[in-house]
Amino acid sequence: MLLSIEGLTKRYQRRDTTFAAVDAVDASVERGDFISFIGRSGSGKTTLLNMIAGLLAPTEGSVRLEGTDLYALNDKEISRLRNTRLGYIPQGLGTLANLTVFDNVRLPFFLDKRSGDASGRASYLLEAVGIAHLRDMLPAQLSGGELRRVLIARVLMNEPDILIADEPTSDLDVETAMGIMELFATINKRGTTILLATHELDTLEFSKRVLSMAAGRLTEEQRA
Ligand SMILES: Nc1ncnc2c1ncn2[C@@H]1O[C@H](COP(=O)(O)OP(=O)(O)OP(=O)(O)O)[C@@H](O)[C@H]1O
Ligand SMILES: [Mg+2]
Repeated sequence: MLLSIEGLTKRYQRRDTTFAAVDAVDASVERGDFISFIGRSGSGKTTLLNMIAGLLAPTEGSVRLEGTDLYALNDKEISRLRNTRLGYIPQGLGTLANLTVFDNVRLPFFLDKRSGDASGRASYLLEAVGIAHLRDMLPAQLSGGELRRVLIARVLMNEPDILIADEPTSDLDVETAMGIMELFATINKRGTTILLATHELDTLEFSKRVLSMAAGRLTEEQRA
């Protein structure tokens, strides 16, 4: 078992009541899984993914990565685990404005002090997400969908064991979105476990499991 999620709950205060944005979720993720989380806006997908990614402490319940309870670790241990094992593509955008597209993509490699061919891999990834022609531009010169693809390439730079992506294709046209999903399918075949939230039902064919969120509760969709 790669990830084991038990009784995972996040409560928020809203005026004088509390409500559960994520409500007693249980789930198991095997190595090599490719899971899509679907559900209406506000159903709790981002809250759930943030807790699974070690970014948001739950009110109750646990997330175990190969048996280790993420929220029993100290800050340093949890960041180390995130940097070495997880790739996270947040909802919304976040690139470094002063770096070119190419340098934004190469950045994680240098942050992790890796050895190998950073430039070769960055070039391959830019090609794979369809923005090789933009490599020397700055983020301010790109469209929303192009920026999104810089982030996708950047998160894949260090070949994460687990990729968590929150609506990664929501600002892309269908053809580009399909290209990204094909790239995800390729890295999934090579062993990366993928968890993604999506509203685009036509991307579901790429995933092996579909989990549906409704008002914080998670259920597995049975598929033919
Ligand atoms: N920091 C917070 N404080 C209070 N309420 C929050 C907070 N973050 C999220 N919520 C609420 O929790 C619920 C779940 O939000 P979440 O962002 O997980 O939904 P989502 O399924 O990702 O939606 P979308 O599809 O729009 O991205 C929503 O009702 C939201 O308003
Ligand atoms: Mg969300």
